[in-house]
Order: sequence, then C-alpha cells, then structure tokens
Amino acid sequence: MAPSATSVAPALAATAAGGVGHGSPADKTAARIQNQDGSPLYPEYMPFYDPLEKVEDLGYFEHFDPGHRADPRLPNLLANATRVVDLSPHVGTEIEGVQLSQLSSAGLDELALMAARRGALVFRNQDFRDIGLARQKSIVRHFGPLHVHGWAPHPVAGSPEHMVIYDHRDDLRVRRSWKGRSPIQWHTDQSPEPQPPGTTFICMLESPPAAGGDTLVSSSVQAYKALSPRFRKRLEGLTAIHSNNDGVTQELKNNGDKAVMRRRELVQEHPVVIVHPVTREKALYVNPVYTKRIVGFDQEESDCILQFLFDHIAKRQDFQCRVRYEPGTVLVWDQRVTNHSQTLDYPAGARRHAFRLTPLANVPIPALVEEDDGECAKDEARVQLGLC
Ligand SMILES: [Fe+2]
Repeated sequence: MAPSATSVAPALAATAAGGVGHGSPADKTAARIQNQDGSPLYPEYMPFYDPLEKVEDLGYFEHFDPGHRADPRLPNLLANATRVVDLSPHVGTEIEGVQLSQLSSAGLDELALMAARRGALVFRNQDFRDIGLARQKSIVRHFGPLHVHGWAPHPVAGSPEHMVIYDHRDDLRVRRSWKGRSPIQWHTDQSPEPQPPGTTFICMLESPPAAGGDTLVSSSVQAYKALSPRFRKRLEGLTAIHSNNDGVTQELKNNGDKAVMRRRELVQEHPVVIVHPVTREKALYVNPVYTKRIVGFDQEESDCILQFLFDHIAKRQDFQCRVRYEPGTVLVWDQRVTNHSQTLDYPAGARRHAFRLTPLANVPIPALVEEDDGECAKDEARVQLGLC
C-alpha cells in the first residue's frame, strides 16, 4: 500500500533564507515527502530484531549469471526509457521512464548486463516499494538466491531476506555502530561470503527531509585500470582473506543481550583481482571493511599494499559517483565491479528508511597472470605519455 503522505518543508529551509514569505527562497526549497505527524511512511518495513533468530548458511550453489542471456543492445530494458544519463564517465547511469516491476525476464537479463557494464543504475519514482515483499523477492531472485544478513534487521512484516536500513531518533542502532569513527567505509557488501553478492537492489522508502543519505559508488574496474600495468601484474594471482569479524564484534559490543547473531562468523579467501563472469572485465576485489590480509605476504607488506589500495579506492574521485535518493528511488548495482559507502551526513534523528535485497552470485573468478597481455598498449592515455 502506498502511504498517504504530505510534503513538509524542512525546518532548515524556513530559517536559512532569512524568513519565510510569499516567493521567498525558502518557499522554493524542495522537501522530500514525509508524514505530517512524524510517523514513518512505510510502517510495515520498520526494523525487527530477534536475538534468538538463527539461519543456516546457504553453502555452495550453481550460479548462471542472467547477464549471459542479455541482448547487448538492451532493447527490452530500454524499450520505454525516456532518458539515459551517465552520472560520471566510469560508473553510474540514471534511467528515466522504466518501471523495474514491469520488466520482462529478458529485460531483467539486460538489467544485469547493464549493471555489470555501468556499475550502478538509478531508477526514480518506482512502484517497487508498493508491490509487496513476495513480488519484490521474486524479481530480485532472478539474479541469484537471496542473502540473509547475520545481524541486520528485517521488516516487522516478515521476510528475513529483506535487509532493513533504518536510522531515526527512535532507533539509534545505526548511529551507535558508527560512534567515534568515520561513517565513510568503502566496501562491497558481504565479501566474506564464499559466493559474494552480484546484482543488488536498494529501495528507498523515506529519505531525510533535506539533502543527505546519499550512496557513494566507486568503479573497481577503473580502480584496477588506473594502476600501472606492472603493478597490476604484481596484484594478479594474489589472494586475500576477507572476514566479517569486526561487524560481529561491533554488534555484540553495541547491543549486548539484544544483539542478533543469526549466522556464524564468515572468513573467506578471494582473489585480489577478479574477472566479471559476463563482461570479462578485471576488477580490484579488496575493501577496507572486510579484507584483512594478503595471503603469503608478511604482515607489514600486506598492511602497506592493502592501505595503498584502500586509499586508491577512497581518494580517486575520478572513478566515483554519488547517488542521491528520493522516496521511491531504486539503486541497482553490481557488487563485483564496485565499492560503495554510506554518507550518514544528514541531521542526527532524521529518518532514513530503505531495504536491500542482495542476490548471491558466482565464486569470484581470479584474473589470470599473463606475461604481456597488451593492456598497456590498449591504454591510450599511457601510450600518449610514453608509459608503455
Ligand atoms: Fe553496503
């Protein structure tokens, strides 16, 4: 059910412009939709925590990426598109005129391919939030079996596969989990899984009234390509250990006997450079949240190389984009070719409410070490500067 809601102007808008009057700048400040009485727009998606809940690991499974079946011209996905705008050269595209809930199976195949190519796709004004838990899951299962998070809440209405993202003055779990440290934490979700996520959905239900709560996205394909060919060769063939032990520790420390521990702690070894199963693009597959050490390196060597790579991902804004949400925005992104971060930059106490559905995908495919695969000669910028 769509909520009946009215738009209320943010308090900031009334004060920032030096008084509110007819035609004042404050009148023109856009405000996101909220209920007048302060209640959530989507109460059935309020977070539910059960400290006794347990879930079995899925184990290994066969994965066939739907992007393999896609028509590379994307005729089904873009049949009704009115505008397609890249958010930055290397990552992120916004598509107008397409309702995700109306896509055919072929359209969803093409969605997987386009997400793999562009990293992140933004769809606004979606009815996806109003089609119910079962239909939402049946659409996203097209991309793989749905992940169940180890401790994050699911909706009070049920469905453990729906991971609820909720921050508001009446529930400080999110704020508390970032207490005393930067909320900017680049990562791919759940990389310690044996078959980590692929084409993932976030559906925004309610955003803070003014700006804020954006997602930052970085291309891992371009992060790899932006390294010198010799350094790329040093990384190929390496593996690294990913673990969610920090998250487990935080959950137990912050929530005590109310902590949710549905699943065991995860530790997994993955290639440092992976290949996307459909595009065959190489991507850097390490992140500062989950990647702990490079296998076979001494501690100082591993710390030094990983810190350089984490800084490389975080600092290189030339292959990042920033996704702004309105209620009804759906972000579809491919975790195998991107890192992302929350921002948590809006006023404390404001409500941000969303859910994530997270299909698991292939066992990460290692990039092959090649003596000379001609990559440098293909890089026009390096050729022009005589770097090959
Ligand atoms: Fe995330």
